[in-house]
Amino acid sequence: MAKAIRFFELNTGAKIPSVGLGTWQSSPGVVGEAVALAVKGGYRHIDCAEIYENQKEIGTVLKKLFDDGVVKREDLWITSKLWCNSHAPEDVPESLNRTLQDLHLDYLDLFLVHWPVSMKKGSVGFEPENLTQPDIPSTWKAMEALYDSGKARAIGVSNFSVKKLGDLLAVARVPPAVNQVESHPVWQQHKLHEFCKSKGIHITGYSPLGSPGTGSIKTEVLKNPVLSKVAEKLSKSPAQVALRWGLQMGHSILPKSTNEARIKENFDVFDWSIPEDLFAKFSEIEQERLIKGTGFVHETLGAYKNIEELWDGEL
Ligand code: A2P
Repeated sequence: MAKAIRFFELNTGAKIPSVGLGTWQSSPGVVGEAVALAVKGGYRHIDCAEIYENQKEIGTVLKKLFDDGVVKREDLWITSKLWCNSHAPEDVPESLNRTLQDLHLDYLDLFLVHWPVSMKKGSVGFEPENLTQPDIPSTWKAMEALYDSGKARAIGVSNFSVKKLGDLLAVARVPPAVNQVESHPVWQQHKLHEFCKSKGIHITGYSPLGSPGTGSIKTEVLKNPVLSKVAEKLSKSPAQVALRWGLQMGHSILPKSTNEARIKENFDVFDWSIPEDLFAKFSEIEQERLIKGTGFVHETLGAYKNIEELWDGEL
């Protein structure tokens, strides 16, 4: 069996590089350097979003990497995401244009609806008063127009449950190519995985290291005893084992780091694999969703009264 997993093919025929650099929580001032280090170290996929408030710095670095001949645009995969305050159909192309301008690009490889949540146009922050009723079919039509225009070479969603994906598939002319969701050994999402597989929707896993410090100590991914044991047996770090688990699930993964050694470590996941007997041990790991989206639910405002409704019970 070939051990290298460098690309996955999407339902558009495009090949998404399997390891991308995550940029959520990478502060302005350090994110640019992280992107430059990653690309020089072989990464060909950068995951961005307008809400991360660092796209301008990433754009400056991308331009320099292209100008200096370090990498060609066509060899790089750039994803970005539509924020919740731009779901109105007329705001969707504007949002993409803003992102393209910030990133100094004329197209994105993938544009995602960031959450199945909508907020008042132009609203800033996460106050419940900003929440409105999403109209995903209308937003998706506007996304499809961007796909038709070629400015977004693939379109998809993020943080969608099986139920919400099913509802979208029922009305979509262009099916989503990707659902980007939390995915790591402590939140394996088997039901969503099987559904996406059956519908030809690729999963990209965010927080593939469990965003250390996010959950309880009990569920800390990198301290998980199963992971530690497997890592010891394979002489790899727990982080590398968590990432390799994602690749062997068939997911692309987006480890975030701004540290040179860890950026390198997280890319050293191609020429080895977790053998089947050890891979089977991951089913013993206690499960917990770490990114719950509590800021998107409210008893009376917006679309979801509680997180059960946001995730359609997939908790
Ligand atoms: P840093 O940026 O200082 O490397 P996730 O991608 O799951 O959200 O996790 C990102 C977090 O994990 C960041 O705090 C990052 O810190 C840290 N991290 C990234 N790579 C590694 C690694 N190989 N080992 C341990 N921690 C890591």
